[in-house]
Amino acid sequence: MNRKIVIAVVGCGYWGPNLIRNFHSLSDCEVKWVCDRDSKRLAHMKNLYPSVETTKEVEKIVEDKEVDAVIVATPVHLHHDLAKKSLEAGKHTFVEKPMTQTSEQGNELVRIAARKKLTLMVGHTFIYSAPVRRIKEIILDGDIGEVQYIGSRRLNLGLFQKDINVAWDLAPHDIAIILYLLGRSPVSVNCQGKAHIHKGIEDVTNMSLNFENGGFATIQSSWLDPNKVREMIIVGSKRMIVYDDNEPLEKIKIYDKRVETPPHYDTFAEFHYSYHYGDMYAPYIKQVEPLKVECQHFLDCIRTGKIPETSGMDGLRVIQILEASSLSLKTGGGRIEIDRNLGAVAAIA
Ligand SMILES: NC(=O)c1ccc[n+]([C@@H]2O[C@H](COP(=O)([O-])OP(=O)(O)OC[C@H]3O[C@@H](n4cnc5c(N)ncnc54)[C@H](O)[C@@H]3O)[C@@H](O)[C@H]2O)c1
Repeated sequence: MNRKIVIAVVGCGYWGPNLIRNFHSLSDCEVKWVCDRDSKRLAHMKNLYPSVETTKEVEKIVEDKEVDAVIVATPVHLHHDLAKKSLEAGKHTFVEKPMTQTSEQGNELVRIAARKKLTLMVGHTFIYSAPVRRIKEIILDGDIGEVQYIGSRRLNLGLFQKDINVAWDLAPHDIAIILYLLGRSPVSVNCQGKAHIHKGIEDVTNMSLNFENGGFATIQSSWLDPNKVREMIIVGSKRMIVYDDNEPLEKIKIYDKRVETPPHYDTFAEFHYSYHYGDMYAPYIKQVEPLKVECQHFLDCIRTGKIPETSGMDGLRVIQILEASSLSLKTGGGRIEIDRNLGAVAAIA
Protein backbone atom coordinates (compact mmCIF):
# COMPACT_ATOMS: atom_id res chain seq x y z
CA MET A 1 0.00 0.00 0.00
CA ASN A 2 1.73 3.23 -1.15
CA ARG A 3 -0.99 5.68 -0.22
CA LYS A 4 -1.86 7.01 3.24
CA ILE A 5 -3.71 4.58 5.52
CA VAL A 6 -7.19 5.94 6.19
CA ILE A 7 -8.34 5.47 9.77
CA ALA A 8 -11.41 6.07 11.91
CA VAL A 9 -11.45 6.42 15.70
CA VAL A 10 -14.50 5.26 17.68
CA GLY A 11 -14.73 6.81 21.15
CA CYS A 12 -13.25 10.20 22.01
CA GLY A 13 -13.74 10.46 25.77
CA TYR A 14 -10.64 10.54 27.97
CA TRP A 15 -8.24 8.28 26.01
CA GLY A 16 -9.49 8.46 22.39
CA PRO A 17 -8.21 12.04 21.89
CA ASN A 18 -4.66 10.86 22.67
CA LEU A 19 -4.95 8.27 19.90
CA ILE A 20 -6.44 10.85 17.52
CA ARG A 21 -3.62 13.33 18.29
CA ASN A 22 -0.94 10.71 17.66
CA PHE A 23 -2.41 9.26 14.49
CA HIS A 24 -3.03 12.81 13.24
CA SER A 25 0.67 13.59 13.77
CA LEU A 26 1.86 10.62 11.67
CA SER A 27 2.55 11.39 8.04
CA ASP A 28 1.57 8.00 6.60
CA CYS A 29 -2.04 8.04 7.73
CA GLU A 30 -5.11 10.20 7.57
CA VAL A 31 -7.73 10.38 10.34
CA LYS A 32 -10.90 10.53 8.26
CA TRP A 33 -13.58 9.83 10.88
CA VAL A 34 -14.16 10.35 14.57
CA CYS A 35 -17.20 8.61 16.02
CA ASP A 36 -18.79 9.12 19.44
CA ARG A 37 -22.35 9.01 20.65
CA ASP A 38 -21.77 12.28 22.54
CA SER A 39 -22.21 15.28 20.20
CA LYS A 40 -20.25 17.59 22.54
CA ARG A 41 -17.18 15.38 22.24
CA LEU A 42 -17.60 15.29 18.46
CA ALA A 43 -17.91 19.10 18.28
CA HIS A 44 -14.73 19.42 20.38
CA MET A 45 -12.81 17.06 18.08
CA LYS A 46 -14.07 18.91 14.98
CA ASN A 47 -12.84 22.13 16.54
CA LEU A 48 -9.38 20.64 17.12
CA TYR A 49 -9.18 18.82 13.77
CA PRO A 50 -11.42 20.63 11.24
CA SER A 51 -10.55 18.15 8.47
CA VAL A 52 -12.10 15.10 10.23
CA GLU A 53 -15.65 13.98 9.58
CA THR A 54 -17.71 13.22 12.68
CA THR A 55 -20.56 10.78 13.22
CA LYS A 56 -22.57 9.10 15.95
CA GLU A 57 -23.13 6.01 13.76
CA VAL A 58 -20.37 3.42 13.63
CA GLU A 59 -22.12 1.95 10.56
CA LYS A 60 -21.07 5.01 8.53
CA ILE A 61 -17.46 4.12 9.24
CA VAL A 62 -17.60 0.40 8.56
CA GLU A 63 -19.56 1.02 5.34
CA ASP A 64 -17.01 3.59 4.11
CA LYS A 65 -14.84 1.74 1.57
CA GLU A 66 -12.07 4.33 1.93
CA VAL A 67 -11.50 3.40 5.59
CA ASP A 68 -8.63 0.91 6.03
CA ALA A 69 -8.53 0.69 9.82
CA VAL A 70 -10.70 1.31 12.86
CA ILE A 71 -9.51 2.26 16.35
CA VAL A 72 -11.84 1.24 19.20
CA ALA A 73 -11.47 3.44 22.32
CA THR A 74 -14.88 3.09 23.93
CA PRO A 75 -15.87 1.58 27.29
CA VAL A 76 -14.86 -2.08 27.46
CA HIS A 77 -18.33 -3.63 27.16
CA LEU A 78 -18.51 -2.29 23.58
CA HIS A 79 -15.07 -3.48 22.43
CA HIS A 80 -16.14 -6.90 21.15
CA ASP A 81 -19.19 -5.73 19.18
CA LEU A 82 -17.42 -2.77 17.61
CA ALA A 83 -14.22 -4.68 16.80
CA LYS A 84 -16.22 -7.56 15.34
CA LYS A 85 -18.19 -5.17 13.10
CA SER A 86 -14.96 -3.56 11.99
CA LEU A 87 -13.18 -6.87 11.23
CA GLU A 88 -16.24 -8.34 9.48
CA ALA A 89 -16.25 -5.24 7.26
CA GLY A 90 -12.62 -6.01 6.32
CA LYS A 91 -10.99 -3.24 8.36
CA HIS A 92 -7.71 -3.65 10.26
CA THR A 93 -8.60 -3.11 13.88
CA PHE A 94 -6.93 -1.65 16.94
CA VAL A 95 -8.75 -2.27 20.23
CA GLU A 96 -7.92 -0.51 23.47
CA LYS A 97 -7.09 -2.60 26.54
CA PRO A 98 -8.61 -4.77 27.91
CA MET A 99 -9.41 -6.22 24.49
CA THR A 100 -12.75 -7.82 25.43
CA GLN A 101 -14.80 -8.81 28.47
CA THR A 102 -14.37 -12.58 28.01
CA SER A 103 -11.81 -14.90 26.45
CA GLU A 104 -14.55 -16.33 24.24
CA GLN A 105 -15.08 -12.88 22.72
CA GLY A 106 -11.31 -12.42 22.42
CA ASN A 107 -10.96 -15.79 20.70
CA GLU A 108 -13.64 -14.84 18.21
CA LEU A 109 -11.86 -11.60 17.26
CA VAL A 110 -8.54 -13.41 16.86
CA ARG A 111 -10.20 -16.03 14.61
CA ILE A 112 -11.97 -13.46 12.41
CA ALA A 113 -8.78 -11.42 11.99
CA ALA A 114 -6.82 -14.55 11.04
CA ARG A 115 -9.51 -15.73 8.59
CA LYS A 116 -9.67 -12.34 6.92
CA LYS A 117 -5.89 -11.75 7.07
CA LEU A 118 -6.35 -8.48 8.93
CA THR A 119 -4.17 -6.82 11.56
CA LEU A 120 -5.67 -7.04 15.04
CA MET A 121 -3.75 -5.10 17.65
CA VAL A 122 -4.45 -4.32 21.29
CA GLY A 123 -3.49 -1.10 23.12
CA HIS A 124 -0.96 -2.45 25.61
CA THR A 125 0.79 0.90 25.47
CA PHE A 126 3.61 0.20 27.94
CA ILE A 127 5.11 -2.44 25.67
CA TYR A 128 6.07 0.50 23.42
CA SER A 129 7.61 2.56 26.23
CA ALA A 130 11.37 3.06 26.33
CA PRO A 131 11.83 2.08 30.02
CA VAL A 132 9.98 -1.24 29.58
CA ARG A 133 12.00 -2.05 26.46
CA ARG A 134 15.20 -1.17 28.30
CA ILE A 135 14.28 -3.44 31.22
CA LYS A 136 13.70 -6.29 28.77
CA GLU A 137 17.17 -5.69 27.25
CA ILE A 138 18.75 -5.66 30.73
CA ILE A 139 17.05 -8.98 31.58
CA LEU A 140 18.05 -10.58 28.26
CA ASP A 141 21.67 -9.42 28.73
CA GLY A 142 21.72 -11.40 31.98
CA ASP A 143 22.63 -8.22 33.88
CA ILE A 144 20.36 -8.89 36.86
CA GLY A 145 20.69 -12.67 36.78
CA GLU A 146 17.67 -14.94 36.90
CA VAL A 147 14.38 -13.06 37.43
CA GLN A 148 12.98 -14.36 40.70
CA TYR A 149 10.04 -12.10 41.42
CA ILE A 150 8.19 -9.10 39.97
CA GLY A 151 6.02 -6.84 42.12
CA SER A 152 3.84 -4.13 40.56
CA ARG A 153 1.74 -1.38 42.11
CA ARG A 154 -0.62 0.85 40.10
CA LEU A 155 -2.60 3.02 42.49
CA ASN A 156 -4.48 6.32 42.31
CA LEU A 157 -7.71 8.05 43.31
CA GLY A 158 -10.38 7.23 40.64
CA LEU A 159 -11.14 7.19 37.66
CA PHE A 160 -13.92 4.78 38.65
CA GLN A 161 -15.26 2.65 35.76
CA LYS A 162 -18.84 1.43 35.63
CA ASP A 163 -18.43 -1.74 33.56
CA ILE A 164 -15.18 -3.23 34.94
CA ASN A 165 -13.40 -3.52 38.28
CA VAL A 166 -10.02 -2.00 39.05
CA ALA A 167 -8.12 -5.15 38.04
CA TRP A 168 -9.65 -5.08 34.55
CA ASP A 169 -8.99 -1.34 34.31
CA LEU A 170 -5.41 -1.01 35.59
CA ALA A 171 -3.84 -4.49 35.73
CA PRO A 172 -3.85 -5.10 31.92
CA HIS A 173 -0.82 -2.80 31.83
CA ASP A 174 1.04 -4.73 34.55
CA ILE A 175 0.08 -8.14 33.16
CA ALA A 176 1.16 -7.15 29.65
CA ILE A 177 4.50 -5.84 30.94
CA ILE A 178 5.15 -8.92 33.10
CA LEU A 179 4.34 -11.34 30.24
CA TYR A 180 6.57 -9.31 27.92
CA LEU A 181 9.47 -9.24 30.39
CA LEU A 182 9.27 -12.92 31.29
CA GLY A 183 8.33 -14.13 27.80
CA ARG A 184 5.75 -16.55 29.17
CA SER A 185 2.26 -16.78 30.69
CA PRO A 186 1.35 -17.85 34.22
CA VAL A 187 -0.15 -21.24 34.94
CA SER A 188 -2.45 -20.00 37.69
CA VAL A 189 -3.80 -16.84 39.26
CA ASN A 190 -5.02 -15.81 42.73
CA CYS A 191 -6.86 -12.57 43.39
CA GLN A 192 -8.43 -10.92 46.41
CA GLY A 193 -10.18 -7.57 46.52
CA LYS A 194 -13.00 -5.45 47.82
CA ALA A 195 -15.68 -3.08 46.52
CA HIS A 196 -15.98 0.00 48.74
CA ILE A 197 -17.68 2.57 46.53
CA HIS A 198 -19.85 0.74 43.91
CA LYS A 199 -21.43 -2.54 44.97
CA GLY A 200 -19.95 -5.49 43.07
CA ILE A 201 -17.15 -3.50 41.39
CA GLU A 202 -13.89 -4.05 43.29
CA ASP A 203 -11.90 -0.84 43.65
CA VAL A 204 -8.91 -2.50 45.37
CA THR A 205 -7.40 -5.82 44.22
CA ASN A 206 -4.27 -7.89 44.88
CA MET A 207 -3.40 -10.44 42.20
CA SER A 208 -0.69 -13.11 42.17
CA LEU A 209 0.56 -14.79 39.01
CA ASN A 210 2.22 -18.19 39.42
CA PHE A 211 4.55 -19.43 36.69
CA GLU A 212 5.55 -22.98 35.73
CA ASN A 213 9.11 -22.85 37.09
CA GLY A 214 8.07 -21.36 40.42
CA GLY A 215 8.26 -17.78 39.09
CA PHE A 216 6.00 -15.36 40.90
CA ALA A 217 4.55 -11.89 40.31
CA THR A 218 2.15 -9.74 42.29
CA ILE A 219 -0.02 -6.88 41.06
CA GLN A 220 -1.71 -4.40 43.39
CA SER A 221 -4.38 -2.23 41.74
CA SER A 222 -6.37 0.54 43.42
CA TRP A 223 -8.69 3.43 42.65
CA LEU A 224 -8.68 4.29 46.34
CA ASP A 225 -5.25 5.61 47.07
CA PRO A 226 -4.31 9.22 47.87
CA ASN A 227 -1.07 8.88 45.87
CA LYS A 228 -0.56 8.06 42.23
CA VAL A 229 1.84 5.10 42.26
CA ARG A 230 3.22 3.43 39.12
CA GLU A 231 5.98 1.19 40.39
CA MET A 232 7.41 -2.16 39.38
CA ILE A 233 10.23 -4.03 41.14
CA ILE A 234 12.07 -6.73 39.25
CA VAL A 235 14.14 -8.88 41.58
CA GLY A 236 16.96 -10.79 39.94
CA SER A 237 19.40 -13.24 41.48
CA LYS A 238 22.24 -10.70 41.00
CA ARG A 239 20.60 -7.25 40.92
CA MET A 240 17.24 -5.55 41.34
CA ILE A 241 15.45 -3.01 39.15
CA VAL A 242 13.02 -0.38 40.37
CA TYR A 243 10.90 1.09 37.56
CA ASP A 244 8.99 4.17 38.67
CA ASP A 245 6.96 5.53 35.78
CA ASN A 246 6.12 8.69 37.75
CA GLU A 247 9.78 9.72 37.82
CA PRO A 248 10.30 12.33 35.09
CA LEU A 249 13.88 11.34 34.20
CA GLU A 250 15.31 8.42 36.17
CA LYS A 251 12.50 5.96 35.55
CA ILE A 252 14.75 2.90 35.96
CA LYS A 253 17.16 2.39 38.82
CA ILE A 254 19.33 -0.70 38.97
CA TYR A 255 20.45 -1.68 42.43
CA ASP A 256 23.46 -3.90 42.89
CA LYS A 257 21.79 -5.53 45.88
CA ARG A 258 21.03 -9.12 46.55
CA VAL A 259 20.68 -11.62 49.32
CA GLU A 260 23.27 -14.35 49.39
CA THR A 261 22.58 -17.31 51.59
CA PRO A 262 25.83 -18.12 53.38
CA PRO A 263 26.68 -21.81 53.67
CA HIS A 264 26.49 -21.41 57.47
CA TYR A 265 26.70 -18.68 60.09
CA ASP A 266 27.18 -18.79 63.84
CA THR A 267 26.60 -15.20 64.94
CA PHE A 268 24.14 -12.42 64.06
CA ALA A 269 27.05 -10.31 62.69
CA GLU A 270 27.98 -13.03 60.23
CA PHE A 271 24.36 -13.33 59.18
CA HIS A 272 24.50 -9.69 57.97
CA TYR A 273 27.21 -10.57 55.48
CA SER A 274 24.67 -12.56 53.53
CA TYR A 275 23.29 -9.24 52.22
CA HIS A 276 25.16 -7.70 49.33
CA TYR A 277 25.00 -3.87 49.11
CA GLY A 278 26.50 -2.30 45.98
CA ASP A 279 25.99 0.76 43.78
CA MET A 280 22.82 2.06 42.24
CA TYR A 281 22.77 3.48 38.73
CA ALA A 282 20.06 4.95 36.56
CA PRO A 283 20.63 4.34 32.83
CA TYR A 284 19.88 7.18 30.43
CA ILE A 285 16.66 6.55 28.56
CA LYS A 286 15.59 8.65 25.58
CA GLN A 287 12.01 9.78 26.11
CA VAL A 288 9.60 9.10 23.24
CA GLU A 289 5.82 9.11 23.65
CA PRO A 290 4.94 5.37 23.82
CA LEU A 291 1.56 6.00 22.21
CA LYS A 292 3.23 7.48 19.14
CA VAL A 293 5.44 4.40 18.80
CA GLU A 294 2.36 2.20 19.27
CA CYS A 295 0.32 4.06 16.61
CA GLN A 296 3.22 3.92 14.11
CA HIS A 297 3.65 0.19 14.83
CA PHE A 298 -0.02 -0.43 14.00
CA LEU A 299 0.40 1.34 10.64
CA ASP A 300 3.65 -0.55 9.92
CA CYS A 301 1.95 -3.89 10.65
CA ILE A 302 -0.92 -3.02 8.29
CA ARG A 303 1.59 -2.20 5.52
CA THR A 304 3.86 -5.21 6.03
CA GLY A 305 1.44 -7.85 7.34
CA LYS A 306 3.76 -8.32 10.33
CA ILE A 307 2.17 -9.61 13.55
CA PRO A 308 1.98 -6.72 16.06
CA GLU A 309 4.06 -6.89 19.22
CA THR A 310 0.75 -6.55 21.07
CA SER A 311 -1.36 -8.80 18.84
CA GLY A 312 -4.89 -10.10 19.34
CA MET A 313 -3.32 -13.24 20.87
CA ASP A 314 -1.43 -11.10 23.40
CA GLY A 315 -4.70 -9.33 24.18
CA LEU A 316 -6.37 -12.71 24.65
CA ARG A 317 -3.65 -13.93 27.06
CA VAL A 318 -4.24 -10.88 29.24
CA ILE A 319 -8.03 -11.45 29.14
CA GLN A 320 -7.58 -15.06 30.27
CA ILE A 321 -5.61 -13.86 33.30
CA LEU A 322 -8.19 -11.19 34.12
CA GLU A 323 -10.98 -13.72 33.72
CA ALA A 324 -9.16 -16.05 36.11
CA SER A 325 -8.72 -13.14 38.55
CA SER A 326 -12.51 -12.53 38.52
CA LEU A 327 -13.17 -16.20 39.25
CA SER A 328 -10.63 -16.14 42.04
CA LEU A 329 -12.25 -13.02 43.56
CA LYS A 330 -15.52 -14.96 43.76
CA THR A 331 -13.80 -17.70 45.74
CA GLY A 332 -12.15 -15.21 48.10
CA GLY A 333 -8.73 -15.62 46.52
CA GLY A 334 -8.69 -19.28 45.47
CA ARG A 335 -6.17 -20.53 42.94
CA ILE A 336 -7.49 -20.60 39.36
CA GLU A 337 -5.61 -22.53 36.72
CA ILE A 338 -5.25 -21.11 33.26
CA ASP A 339 -5.94 -23.48 30.42
CA ARG A 340 -3.77 -22.15 27.65
CA ASN A 341 -5.20 -24.47 25.02
CA LEU A 342 -8.87 -23.75 25.37
CA GLY A 343 -8.79 -20.15 26.50
CA ALA A 344 -10.93 -21.26 29.38
CA VAL A 345 -10.28 -21.47 33.10
CA ALA A 346 -11.12 -24.08 35.67
CA ALA A 347 -11.26 -23.59 39.40
CA ILE A 348 -9.20 -25.84 41.61
CA ALA A 349 -11.50 -27.04 44.33
N1 LIG B 1 -3.78 2.38 26.74
C1 LIG B 1 -3.93 3.16 27.80
O1 LIG B 1 -2.98 3.54 28.46
C2 LIG B 1 -5.31 3.57 28.19
C3 LIG B 1 -5.51 4.62 29.10
C4 LIG B 1 -6.81 4.96 29.44
C5 LIG B 1 -7.89 4.28 28.89
N2 LIG B 1 -7.65 3.26 28.02
C6 LIG B 1 -8.78 2.50 27.45
O2 LIG B 1 -9.47 3.29 26.51
C7 LIG B 1 -10.84 2.91 26.47
C8 LIG B 1 -11.71 4.13 26.69
O3 LIG B 1 -11.48 4.61 27.99
P1 LIG B 1 -11.81 6.13 28.40
O4 LIG B 1 -11.25 6.32 29.75
O5 LIG B 1 -11.44 7.05 27.29
O6 LIG B 1 -13.41 6.05 28.52
P2 LIG B 1 -14.43 7.28 28.45
O7 LIG B 1 -15.67 6.81 29.08
O8 LIG B 1 -13.76 8.53 28.95
O9 LIG B 1 -14.67 7.49 26.89
C9 LIG B 1 -15.39 6.59 26.11
C10 LIG B 1 -16.07 7.35 24.98
O10 LIG B 1 -16.78 6.40 24.18
C11 LIG B 1 -18.01 6.99 23.81
N3 LIG B 1 -18.99 5.96 23.45
C12 LIG B 1 -19.75 5.19 24.29
N4 LIG B 1 -20.54 4.37 23.57
C13 LIG B 1 -20.27 4.60 22.26
C14 LIG B 1 -20.74 4.05 21.06
N5 LIG B 1 -21.67 3.08 21.05
N6 LIG B 1 -20.24 4.52 19.89
C15 LIG B 1 -19.32 5.49 19.89
N7 LIG B 1 -18.83 6.05 21.01
C16 LIG B 1 -19.28 5.62 22.18
C17 LIG B 1 -18.44 7.80 25.03
O11 LIG B 1 -19.38 8.79 24.69
C18 LIG B 1 -17.09 8.39 25.47
O12 LIG B 1 -16.84 9.63 24.88
C19 LIG B 1 -11.01 1.84 27.55
O13 LIG B 1 -10.90 0.58 26.95
C20 LIG B 1 -9.82 2.08 28.47
O14 LIG B 1 -9.43 0.93 29.18
C21 LIG B 1 -6.41 2.91 27.66
